[in-house]
Amino acid sequence: MDIRIDPWDYKIIQEYDKLFTVFGIQSIDSIPYKDLLKHHFFTRRIVFGHRDFDKWLNALRRGDKVIVLTGFMPSGVPHLGTAMVFEELKFFQEIGASVKIVIADAEAYAVRREDRGSTIKHGIEFIKHAIAWGIDPNKSEFYFQTAMKESYYRLIQMFSRKVTAAEMEAIYGDLTPAKIMAALTQVADILHPQLEEFGGYKHVLVPVGVDQDPHLRFARDIADRFSEELGFERPSSTYHKLLRGLDGNKMSKSRPDYAIFLNDDENVVRKKVMMALTGGRATAEEQRRLGGEPWKCMIHELYVYFMLNDEDVRKITEECVTGRILCGECKRIAVELLVGKLKEHKKKYEEVERTFNIEKIVKIPAF
Ligand code: TRP
Ligand code: SF4
Repeated sequence: MDIRIDPWDYKIIQEYDKLFTVFGIQSIDSIPYKDLLKHHFFTRRIVFGHRDFDKWLNALRRGDKVIVLTGFMPSGVPHLGTAMVFEELKFFQEIGASVKIVIADAEAYAVRREDRGSTIKHGIEFIKHAIAWGIDPNKSEFYFQTAMKESYYRLIQMFSRKVTAAEMEAIYGDLTPAKIMAALTQVADILHPQLEEFGGYKHVLVPVGVDQDPHLRFARDIADRFSEELGFERPSSTYHKLLRGLDGNKMSKSRPDYAIFLNDDENVVRKKVMMALTGGRATAEEQRRLGGEPWKCMIHELYVYFMLNDEDVRKITEECVTGRILCGECKRIAVELLVGKLKEHKKKYEEVERTFNIEKIVKIPAF
Protein backbone atom coordinates (compact mmCIF):
# COMPACT_ATOMS: atom_id res chain seq x y z
CA MET A 1 0.00 0.00 0.00
CA ASP A 2 1.36 3.41 -0.87
CA ILE A 3 0.91 5.28 2.32
CA ARG A 4 3.64 7.48 3.66
CA ILE A 5 3.50 10.23 6.21
CA ASP A 6 5.50 13.25 5.18
CA PRO A 7 6.26 15.34 8.26
CA TRP A 8 6.88 18.43 6.14
CA ASP A 9 3.78 18.12 4.00
CA TYR A 10 1.30 15.70 5.42
CA LYS A 11 -2.00 14.98 3.76
CA ILE A 12 -5.21 14.78 5.71
CA ILE A 13 -5.43 11.30 7.13
CA GLN A 14 -8.84 9.72 6.63
CA GLU A 15 -8.39 6.39 8.30
CA TYR A 16 -6.33 6.49 11.43
CA ASP A 17 -6.83 2.78 11.98
CA LYS A 18 -4.68 1.98 8.96
CA LEU A 19 -1.69 3.43 10.75
CA PHE A 20 -1.79 0.57 13.23
CA THR A 21 -1.31 -2.05 10.56
CA VAL A 22 0.88 -0.10 8.16
CA PHE A 23 3.33 1.45 10.63
CA GLY A 24 2.86 -0.57 13.78
CA ILE A 25 1.59 2.36 15.81
CA GLN A 26 -0.22 0.89 18.83
CA SER A 27 -3.79 1.76 19.71
CA ILE A 28 -4.35 3.92 22.78
CA ASP A 29 -7.01 1.40 23.83
CA SER A 30 -4.26 -1.02 24.84
CA ILE A 31 -3.01 1.32 27.54
CA PRO A 32 -3.73 0.57 31.19
CA TYR A 33 -3.82 3.43 33.74
CA LYS A 34 -7.24 4.70 32.69
CA ASP A 35 -7.34 6.24 36.17
CA LEU A 36 -4.44 8.46 35.20
CA LEU A 37 -5.47 9.36 31.67
CA LYS A 38 -8.62 11.28 32.37
CA HIS A 39 -8.05 14.15 29.99
CA HIS A 40 -10.65 14.24 27.22
CA PHE A 41 -7.92 13.91 24.59
CA PHE A 42 -7.49 10.35 25.86
CA THR A 43 -11.08 9.50 26.70
CA ARG A 44 -12.26 10.78 23.31
CA ARG A 45 -9.38 9.06 21.51
CA ILE A 46 -8.08 12.29 20.05
CA VAL A 47 -4.77 10.88 21.23
CA PHE A 48 -5.41 7.64 19.39
CA GLY A 49 -2.05 5.93 19.12
CA HIS A 50 1.34 5.45 20.72
CA ARG A 51 4.61 3.59 20.76
CA ASP A 52 5.66 2.17 24.13
CA PHE A 53 3.59 4.69 26.07
CA ASP A 54 2.89 1.92 28.59
CA LYS A 55 6.62 1.63 29.30
CA TRP A 56 6.84 5.34 30.00
CA LEU A 57 3.79 5.21 32.26
CA ASN A 58 5.28 2.25 34.13
CA ALA A 59 8.43 4.28 34.70
CA LEU A 60 6.38 7.24 35.91
CA ARG A 61 4.42 5.03 38.30
CA ARG A 62 7.58 3.40 39.62
CA GLY A 63 8.98 6.84 40.33
CA ASP A 64 11.82 6.48 37.82
CA LYS A 65 13.17 9.55 36.11
CA VAL A 66 10.96 10.48 33.18
CA ILE A 67 10.61 13.44 30.88
CA VAL A 68 8.22 14.65 28.22
CA LEU A 69 9.92 16.24 25.24
CA THR A 70 8.38 17.85 22.21
CA GLY A 71 9.13 20.59 19.73
CA PHE A 72 7.66 23.35 17.62
CA MET A 73 8.73 25.04 14.47
CA PRO A 74 8.72 28.73 15.25
CA SER A 75 6.99 30.02 12.18
CA GLY A 76 4.18 32.48 12.76
CA VAL A 77 1.71 32.57 15.61
CA PRO A 78 0.62 29.17 16.97
CA HIS A 79 -2.82 27.97 15.91
CA LEU A 80 -5.26 25.64 17.63
CA GLY A 81 -3.55 22.59 16.13
CA THR A 82 -0.37 23.62 17.94
CA ALA A 83 -2.30 24.31 21.11
CA MET A 84 -3.18 20.62 21.21
CA VAL A 85 0.42 19.93 22.11
CA PHE A 86 0.38 22.73 24.72
CA GLU A 87 -2.69 21.06 26.19
CA GLU A 88 -0.96 17.67 26.32
CA LEU A 89 2.15 19.11 27.95
CA LYS A 90 0.03 20.81 30.56
CA PHE A 91 -1.68 17.51 31.28
CA PHE A 92 1.58 15.59 31.60
CA GLN A 93 2.85 18.21 34.03
CA GLU A 94 -0.28 17.76 36.07
CA ILE A 95 0.40 14.03 36.42
CA GLY A 96 3.91 14.72 37.62
CA ALA A 97 6.24 14.85 34.62
CA SER A 98 8.68 17.59 33.79
CA VAL A 99 8.79 18.78 30.21
CA LYS A 100 11.42 19.92 27.78
CA ILE A 101 10.34 22.00 24.81
CA VAL A 102 12.39 22.40 21.66
CA ILE A 103 12.12 25.50 19.55
CA ALA A 104 13.07 24.03 16.19
CA ASP A 105 14.64 27.16 14.77
CA ALA A 106 17.29 25.26 12.80
CA GLU A 107 14.54 23.29 11.08
CA ALA A 108 12.39 26.36 10.37
CA TYR A 109 15.42 28.16 8.96
CA ALA A 110 16.57 25.35 6.68
CA VAL A 111 13.38 23.56 5.66
CA ARG A 112 10.82 26.36 5.86
CA ARG A 113 13.35 29.00 4.81
CA GLU A 114 12.29 31.39 7.53
CA ASP A 115 14.72 34.19 8.09
CA ARG A 116 16.90 33.97 11.15
CA GLY A 117 15.47 37.02 12.88
CA SER A 118 11.90 35.82 12.62
CA THR A 119 12.68 32.30 13.84
CA ILE A 120 14.05 33.83 17.02
CA LYS A 121 11.22 36.33 17.40
CA HIS A 122 8.56 33.69 16.76
CA GLY A 123 10.35 31.24 19.05
CA ILE A 124 10.13 33.71 21.94
CA GLU A 125 6.44 34.31 21.19
CA PHE A 126 5.84 30.57 21.11
CA ILE A 127 7.25 30.20 24.59
CA LYS A 128 4.99 32.98 25.85
CA HIS A 129 1.96 31.36 24.23
CA ALA A 130 2.88 28.02 25.81
CA ILE A 131 3.07 29.57 29.26
CA ALA A 132 -0.12 31.55 28.69
CA TRP A 133 -1.87 28.30 27.72
CA GLY A 134 -1.01 26.95 31.13
CA ILE A 135 2.35 25.23 30.84
CA ASP A 136 4.13 25.71 34.14
CA PRO A 137 7.50 27.36 33.48
CA ASN A 138 8.81 26.01 36.78
CA LYS A 139 8.41 22.46 35.54
CA SER A 140 9.67 23.17 32.03
CA GLU A 141 12.86 23.65 30.19
CA PHE A 142 12.89 25.41 26.83
CA TYR A 143 15.68 25.51 24.31
CA PHE A 144 16.39 26.75 20.81
CA GLN A 145 18.14 24.18 18.61
CA THR A 146 20.74 26.70 17.52
CA ALA A 147 21.65 27.63 21.09
CA MET A 148 22.64 24.12 22.11
CA LYS A 149 26.10 23.11 23.16
CA GLU A 150 28.61 21.09 21.18
CA SER A 151 27.78 17.69 22.62
CA TYR A 152 24.30 17.93 21.11
CA TYR A 153 25.72 18.83 17.72
CA ARG A 154 28.28 16.08 18.06
CA LEU A 155 25.37 13.61 18.21
CA ILE A 156 24.18 14.71 14.80
CA GLN A 157 27.61 13.96 13.36
CA MET A 158 27.73 10.59 15.05
CA PHE A 159 24.26 9.62 13.84
CA SER A 160 25.20 10.46 10.25
CA ARG A 161 27.78 7.68 10.32
CA LYS A 162 25.25 4.92 10.95
CA VAL A 163 22.41 5.77 8.58
CA THR A 164 22.10 5.43 4.83
CA ALA A 165 20.35 7.64 2.30
CA ALA A 166 18.24 4.68 1.18
CA GLU A 167 16.83 4.08 4.62
CA MET A 168 16.07 7.76 5.12
CA GLU A 169 14.30 7.82 1.77
CA ALA A 170 12.25 4.81 2.80
CA ILE A 171 11.07 6.77 5.83
CA TYR A 172 10.80 10.30 4.46
CA GLY A 173 10.40 10.09 0.69
CA ASP A 174 12.23 12.78 -1.29
CA LEU A 175 15.05 14.25 0.68
CA THR A 176 16.98 17.47 0.51
CA PRO A 177 20.13 18.32 2.49
CA ALA A 178 17.96 20.59 4.65
CA LYS A 179 15.57 17.76 5.47
CA ILE A 180 18.43 15.39 6.26
CA MET A 181 19.91 17.97 8.62
CA ALA A 182 16.52 18.63 10.23
CA ALA A 183 15.75 14.91 10.70
CA LEU A 184 19.12 14.20 12.33
CA THR A 185 18.71 17.28 14.51
CA GLN A 186 15.30 16.13 15.63
CA VAL A 187 16.72 12.74 16.60
CA ALA A 188 19.33 14.60 18.67
CA ASP A 189 16.44 16.49 20.30
CA ILE A 190 14.67 13.28 21.15
CA LEU A 191 17.65 11.28 22.40
CA HIS A 192 20.02 13.77 24.04
CA PRO A 193 18.18 13.96 27.41
CA GLN A 194 19.35 10.40 28.14
CA LEU A 195 23.02 11.38 28.17
CA GLU A 196 25.04 11.87 31.32
CA GLU A 197 25.88 15.34 30.18
CA PHE A 198 22.23 16.29 30.09
CA GLY A 199 21.33 14.93 33.49
CA GLY A 200 21.64 11.18 32.95
CA TYR A 201 19.24 8.49 31.91
CA LYS A 202 15.54 9.22 31.94
CA HIS A 203 12.69 7.69 30.02
CA VAL A 204 11.57 10.05 27.26
CA LEU A 205 8.00 10.48 25.99
CA VAL A 206 7.39 12.48 22.83
CA PRO A 207 3.76 13.64 22.41
CA VAL A 208 3.16 14.84 18.85
CA GLY A 209 0.74 14.96 15.95
CA VAL A 210 0.90 11.75 14.00
CA ASP A 211 2.59 13.58 11.10
CA GLN A 212 5.75 13.43 13.24
CA ASP A 213 5.83 9.63 13.50
CA PRO A 214 8.51 9.22 10.79
CA HIS A 215 10.91 11.09 13.07
CA LEU A 216 10.10 8.73 15.89
CA ARG A 217 10.66 5.64 13.80
CA PHE A 218 13.99 7.11 12.79
CA ALA A 219 14.90 8.03 16.38
CA ARG A 220 14.06 4.52 17.59
CA ASP A 221 16.28 2.94 14.91
CA ILE A 222 19.13 5.23 15.82
CA ALA A 223 18.65 4.57 19.55
CA ASP A 224 19.08 0.85 18.82
CA ARG A 225 22.25 1.43 16.85
CA PHE A 226 23.80 3.51 19.60
CA SER A 227 22.55 1.49 22.53
CA GLU A 228 26.01 0.19 23.36
CA GLU A 229 28.07 3.20 22.50
CA LEU A 230 25.83 5.80 24.13
CA GLY A 231 23.44 3.74 26.25
CA PHE A 232 20.31 4.91 24.44
CA GLU A 233 16.93 3.31 24.98
CA ARG A 234 14.05 3.75 22.56
CA PRO A 235 11.86 6.77 23.27
CA SER A 236 8.10 6.41 23.78
CA SER A 237 5.59 8.51 21.89
CA THR A 238 1.90 9.40 21.72
CA TYR A 239 0.04 10.56 18.62
CA HIS A 240 -2.92 12.84 18.33
CA LYS A 241 -5.23 13.20 15.38
CA LEU A 242 -4.61 16.32 13.40
CA LEU A 243 -7.15 19.06 13.95
CA ARG A 244 -8.46 19.99 10.53
CA GLY A 245 -8.79 23.49 9.15
CA LEU A 246 -12.22 25.08 8.94
CA ASP A 247 -12.64 23.92 5.35
CA GLY A 248 -11.91 20.29 6.24
CA ASN A 249 -8.38 20.25 4.83
CA LYS A 250 -5.26 20.56 6.87
CA MET A 251 -4.93 23.37 9.39
CA SER A 252 -1.84 25.25 8.42
CA LYS A 253 -0.45 28.71 8.71
CA SER A 254 -0.07 28.80 4.94
CA ARG A 255 -3.89 28.80 4.69
CA PRO A 256 -4.68 31.43 7.32
CA ASP A 257 -8.38 31.80 6.45
CA TYR A 258 -9.03 28.25 7.61
CA ALA A 259 -6.90 28.20 10.75
CA ILE A 260 -7.72 29.73 14.13
CA PHE A 261 -4.65 31.48 15.50
CA LEU A 262 -4.21 32.07 19.19
CA ASN A 263 -4.15 35.82 18.63
CA ASP A 264 -7.18 36.04 16.31
CA ASP A 265 -9.58 38.70 17.49
CA GLU A 266 -13.32 38.45 17.78
CA ASN A 267 -14.21 39.67 14.29
CA VAL A 268 -11.71 37.42 12.63
CA VAL A 269 -12.96 34.39 14.54
CA ARG A 270 -16.56 35.25 13.70
CA LYS A 271 -15.77 35.56 10.00
CA LYS A 272 -13.79 32.32 9.90
CA VAL A 273 -16.36 30.30 11.82
CA MET A 274 -19.22 31.61 9.72
CA MET A 275 -17.42 30.33 6.60
CA ALA A 276 -16.59 26.94 8.07
CA LEU A 277 -17.57 23.64 6.53
CA THR A 278 -20.41 22.01 8.48
CA GLY A 279 -22.41 18.85 8.25
CA GLY A 280 -25.54 20.87 7.51
CA ARG A 281 -28.04 20.08 4.77
CA ALA A 282 -28.84 22.05 1.65
CA THR A 283 -31.94 23.69 3.12
CA ALA A 284 -33.26 24.39 6.60
CA GLU A 285 -36.33 22.30 5.86
CA GLU A 286 -34.16 19.33 4.93
CA GLN A 287 -32.01 19.75 8.00
CA ARG A 288 -35.04 19.82 10.31
CA ARG A 289 -36.27 16.67 8.65
CA LEU A 290 -33.01 14.67 8.31
CA GLY A 291 -30.79 16.22 10.96
CA GLY A 292 -27.18 17.36 10.45
CA GLU A 293 -24.10 15.19 10.01
CA PRO A 294 -21.78 16.25 12.84
CA TRP A 295 -19.06 13.79 11.86
CA LYS A 296 -18.50 15.90 8.72
CA CYS A 297 -18.59 19.19 10.60
CA MET A 298 -15.60 21.35 11.53
CA ILE A 299 -17.60 23.20 14.17
CA HIS A 300 -18.37 19.91 15.84
CA GLU A 301 -14.69 18.99 15.67
CA LEU A 302 -13.85 22.20 17.54
CA TYR A 303 -16.46 21.40 20.18
CA VAL A 304 -15.02 17.94 20.68
CA TYR A 305 -11.36 18.95 20.68
CA PHE A 306 -11.52 22.13 22.71
CA MET A 307 -14.77 23.56 23.81
CA LEU A 308 -17.30 21.30 25.45
CA ASN A 309 -17.45 18.79 28.28
CA ASP A 310 -18.81 15.28 27.74
CA GLU A 311 -22.35 16.15 28.68
CA ASP A 312 -22.49 19.17 26.38
CA VAL A 313 -20.92 17.29 23.48
CA ARG A 314 -23.63 14.69 23.89
CA LYS A 315 -26.34 17.34 23.95
CA ILE A 316 -25.21 19.30 20.91
CA THR A 317 -24.65 16.11 18.93
CA GLU A 318 -28.14 14.97 19.68
CA GLU A 319 -29.66 18.34 18.80
CA CYS A 320 -27.71 18.28 15.57
CA VAL A 321 -28.64 14.79 14.38
CA THR A 322 -32.28 15.26 15.27
CA GLY A 323 -32.48 18.55 13.39
CA ARG A 324 -33.45 20.53 16.46
CA ILE A 325 -30.57 22.94 15.99
CA LEU A 326 -29.55 24.46 12.68
CA CYS A 327 -26.03 25.41 11.69
CA GLY A 328 -26.52 29.17 11.95
CA GLU A 329 -27.44 29.00 15.60
CA CYS A 330 -24.88 26.33 16.32
CA LYS A 331 -22.14 28.48 14.80
CA ARG A 332 -23.16 31.41 16.96
CA ILE A 333 -22.69 29.25 20.04
CA ALA A 334 -19.30 28.12 18.74
CA VAL A 335 -18.19 31.70 18.11
CA GLU A 336 -19.08 32.73 21.65
CA LEU A 337 -17.16 29.82 23.16
CA LEU A 338 -14.15 30.27 20.95
CA VAL A 339 -13.99 34.03 21.41
CA GLY A 340 -14.23 33.53 25.16
CA LYS A 341 -11.40 31.03 25.14
CA LEU A 342 -9.14 33.20 23.02
CA LYS A 343 -9.88 36.31 25.08
CA GLU A 344 -8.84 34.45 28.18
CA HIS A 345 -5.67 33.30 26.43
CA LYS A 346 -4.92 36.85 25.29
CA LYS A 347 -5.25 38.14 28.82
CA LYS A 348 -2.79 35.55 30.08
CA TYR A 349 -0.43 36.20 27.18
CA GLU A 350 -0.36 39.89 28.03
CA GLU A 351 0.27 39.05 31.64
CA VAL A 352 3.19 36.82 30.64
CA GLU A 353 4.57 39.66 28.55
CA ARG A 354 4.26 42.11 31.42
CA THR A 355 5.57 39.97 34.21
CA PHE A 356 7.83 37.33 32.78
CA ASN A 357 11.45 37.60 31.82
CA ILE A 358 11.85 35.00 29.07
CA GLU A 359 15.62 35.35 29.04
CA LYS A 360 15.71 33.99 32.57
CA ILE A 361 14.37 30.63 31.42
CA VAL A 362 15.75 30.20 27.92
CA LYS A 363 18.99 30.98 26.21
CA ILE A 364 18.18 33.15 23.22
CA PRO A 365 20.46 32.28 20.29
CA ALA A 366 22.86 34.90 19.06
CA PHE A 367 21.62 36.41 15.85
N1 TRP B 1 9.57 18.76 13.46
C1 TRP B 1 8.72 19.32 14.48
C2 TRP B 1 7.66 20.18 13.80
O1 TRP B 1 7.60 20.26 12.62
C3 TRP B 1 9.48 20.12 15.49
C4 TRP B 1 10.46 19.33 16.34
C5 TRP B 1 11.80 19.51 16.38
C6 TRP B 1 10.17 18.30 17.28
N2 TRP B 1 12.38 18.69 17.27
C7 TRP B 1 11.42 17.92 17.85
C8 TRP B 1 9.01 17.65 17.68
C9 TRP B 1 11.50 16.91 18.79
C10 TRP B 1 9.09 16.65 18.64
C11 TRP B 1 10.34 16.27 19.20
O2 TRP B 1 6.86 20.81 14.44
FE1 SF4 C 1 -22.24 21.17 12.71
FE2 SF4 C 1 -23.77 22.38 14.46
FE3 SF4 C 1 -24.48 22.25 11.88
FE4 SF4 C 1 -24.55 20.08 13.38
S1 SF4 C 1 -25.80 21.92 13.63
S2 SF4 C 1 -23.71 20.23 11.33
S3 SF4 C 1 -22.77 20.42 14.72
S4 SF4 C 1 -22.72 23.34 12.74
